[in-house]
Amino acid sequence: MNMVPLQPGMELTVEVSDLAFQGRGVAHHEGLVVFVDGGLPGDTARIEIIRKRRRHVESRVLKILQPSPYRIPPRCRHFGLCGGCRLQDMAYEQQLAFKAEQVRNHLIRVGGLADPGEIPIIPCEPTFGYRNKMEFTFGTDFDRNPALGLHPRGKYWEVFDLEECFLPPESFARIAGITREFFADSGYESYHPRQHTGFLRNLVLRIGQNTGQILVNLVTAEGTVQSAGEWVARLREAVPEIVTVAHTINATRANIAVGDLAEIWYGGGTFTERLADLMFTLGPRSFFQTNARQAEKLFARALEYAALNGSERVLDLYSGAGAISLLMARRAGAVTGVELVAEAVEAAIEAAGANGIGNCEFICDDTKDFMKKQAAAGARYDLAITDPPRAGLHPKVVDHLIELAPPRIIYVSCNPATLARDLGLFQAGGYALQGITAVDMFPHTAHVEAVALLQRV
Ligand SMILES: C[S@@+](CC[C@H](N)C(=O)[O-])C[C@H]1O[C@@H](n2cnc3c(N)ncnc32)[C@H](O)[C@@H]1O
Repeated sequence: MNMVPLQPGMELTVEVSDLAFQGRGVAHHEGLVVFVDGGLPGDTARIEIIRKRRRHVESRVLKILQPSPYRIPPRCRHFGLCGGCRLQDMAYEQQLAFKAEQVRNHLIRVGGLADPGEIPIIPCEPTFGYRNKMEFTFGTDFDRNPALGLHPRGKYWEVFDLEECFLPPESFARIAGITREFFADSGYESYHPRQHTGFLRNLVLRIGQNTGQILVNLVTAEGTVQSAGEWVARLREAVPEIVTVAHTINATRANIAVGDLAEIWYGGGTFTERLADLMFTLGPRSFFQTNARQAEKLFARALEYAALNGSERVLDLYSGAGAISLLMARRAGAVTGVELVAEAVEAAIEAAGANGIGNCEFICDDTKDFMKKQAAAGARYDLAITDPPRAGLHPKVVDHLIELAPPRIIYVSCNPATLARDLGLFQAGGYALQGITAVDMFPHTAHVEAVALLQRV
């Protein structure tokens, strides 16, 4: 029988059997992997081929012919268009099972580790309203009207008006609504990410989930807003929990919601958040865990793995605003946190002071350089913790850690692929995996975090 090669535009019917890491369905057709955007395991779907790659093809669902038993009605009206929640139409229990399985699969396939069996996963409760930060973008919608919202999936240059979003608290949609209305008639234009013209770039909202305090940050190109006082007054009247309204200027071409703080239009420039028994004072630029309540659970598991007796020397690599360092410091002899971003280091030092923690130092350095110096000096630690960005650890950092040979390493990860890769390297360097727990920080998205304990053998 002659096989017809799959080409963009072709339609076919497939059975979706699995989910890929990004939350796309996976089907197979004549030995070829077919990624199905919008497909869930158990679906029989009519699909259209969108792109052909060397080893797989990419497709989108045209029609679900037989729905998966895991399908549920999505809650949000923007589901499908929005780049945010890919899995909102999948029962939560199945989302959890999928995420735990992703971690296990990566350990075996990428890391070459022995099958760890079923990996426990800490669910997020409640599964909505968990985000403490949102970055909305100013732009124009499909009809070229001014819009303030999020990007459609895969289209960073377009924006759709966000009418609802269940991931942050309800007050965020109110703040966005008032802002959209105010600036629609203001004469200020949205920034165009391809032409690099216009003024209004982002509206960043943050809340202390445990304190209720809200920080509003308007990010623009260079310039100021003449009538900012009127906008601030409208916001405060509608949302009294707002404690700071800041103005940030991003004069670069980079499509990011950060820049230089220009003015504080209202309040003290910060908001506060409590994580476990620690208080943090955070400004517009301070990094903080996006789901603080779930981070508490993740860190509690890390503390269990650490099993500290009060005398240990602990190294916390990629320490951010210092949450893990400070939690460990209360139960250890001394902690050294290492972080690249100066503002985060300042926030960590300030938090140590505010929480009366004196046995914790924070060093602003690139982990790779810091570890090189530590290895050369023959430094000794009883426990090393590492919580790197998605790219995982630089191979040199792994090498230096193995050289320093702390008896235990705790690895906190937001990317199962790089976690598995690095655990494989640690295993080759004389460490064994003693425990691993997946944590669902972001329900309805395909993201999954994990915390692993390694013991030197
Ligand atoms: C996942 S966050 C860790 C957050 C931290 N554990 C906390 O709870 O606040 C990763 C951190 O690594 C920092 N980072 C990224 N590259 C780095 C590098 N090369 N050296 C040191 N820190 C780095 C980032 O600025 C970020 O704060």
